[in-house]
Amino acid sequence: MQTIRWGILGCGKIARKFASDLVHVEGAQLIACGSRDKGNAEAFAAEFSIPHIHGSYEALASDPDVDVIYIASPHGLHHEHVLLCLRHNKAVLCEKAFAINGKQVAEMVEEARKQRVFLMEALWSKFTPQYEIAMKLVRDGSIGEISSMIVDFGFTPEPPVSSRLYEPSLGGGSLLDIGVYNVFYILSFMGRPDEIIARMTPAATGVDEQCAAIFHYKDGRLAQLFTTFSSNLPTEAQINGSKGRIKLGPRFYNPTTCIIEFYPGKIDSRQIIPYHSEPGFGYQYQARHVCKCLREGLTESPVMSHADSLLLIETMDRIRASAGIKYAVDR
Ligand SMILES: NC(=O)c1ccc[n+]([C@@H]2O[C@H](COP(=O)([O-])OP(=O)(O)OC[C@H]3O[C@@H](n4cnc5c(N)ncnc54)[C@H](OP(=O)(O)O)[C@@H]3O)[C@@H](O)[C@H]2O)c1
Repeated sequence: MQTIRWGILGCGKIARKFASDLVHVEGAQLIACGSRDKGNAEAFAAEFSIPHIHGSYEALASDPDVDVIYIASPHGLHHEHVLLCLRHNKAVLCEKAFAINGKQVAEMVEEARKQRVFLMEALWSKFTPQYEIAMKLVRDGSIGEISSMIVDFGFTPEPPVSSRLYEPSLGGGSLLDIGVYNVFYILSFMGRPDEIIARMTPAATGVDEQCAAIFHYKDGRLAQLFTTFSSNLPTEAQINGSKGRIKLGPRFYNPTTCIIEFYPGKIDSRQIIPYHSEPGFGYQYQARHVCKCLREGLTESPVMSHADSLLLIETMDRIRASAGIKYAVDR
């Protein structure tokens, strides 16, 4: 099996979780990391036994031994960092939110196509066995025709609060940070909405502390999403159909339970679907997929395609337009 050599750009929190999950990926080797601060890169490299240590992102992108770079910087910088890596001919797996707006994502996709280099958004939930089980239940018609979804995601950031959560230039705000999962789930099970109505509560910095949105479909279906940094919520997704409903949660984006309830709500009509999770945080599934794509010489994932990412960010743009969530790069 061809070894896929990984580099990590930005040595922060999620980078640490991803690095520890790469150990569970057969044929993957974490050989390089890059930080704005050489000392930070050295500390990260020591933690994960990484041989190539770079004190700048440019140096990481120029490392000839690296096949693919995982971008783990704040999303306000993804556009810049993705372009940097693609222009050095590196395959890229970039954290969510993929970028701030549709224009940036379109430019990233265009560059990947121009360079003929692999690019994928790290929508890791889509690669988990949990997601596949829920999707199969729906496709098999277990709950009948879907008429609505309700998806919430809320947590109160613990001190010291990461500056990126509220900093407009880094893409702060609840919609881009966590709402991307709500939107992704609704799009997965219900498709593109015909109309979106959204409202937000501004934080002191102007980014959305909370955001609520309703998706309306011409055939009468409805979906509702809510994101907040002000309350700890169950963070569940409910998919409602004509025969029953599926409840994913807690943490619907990587749930520990999938409950299916058939109407009319008898006790024995409730099933809890067991999951067989592997050790790790759950990021290994997407990393495995990226390795497979690279071995097959693909420039785009058939599972999380460029079109999927463009639809996701377009929907986020529509929510932002309705709710009045603006960033400097929108101008
Ligand atoms: N998939 C998931 O489950 C998940 C979970 C959390 C976050 N995320 C996403 O991952 C990205 C990073 O989140 P995180 O929680 O890991 O953030 P974090 O802990 O703040 O780390 C971000 C890293 O980006 C680098 N960076 C470059 N320019 C920066 C700047 N101007 N300000 C701050 N950091 C800068 C820094 O690394 P150096 O100093 O080493 O250069 C920093 O350590 C975000 O896009 C977020 O949405 C995904």
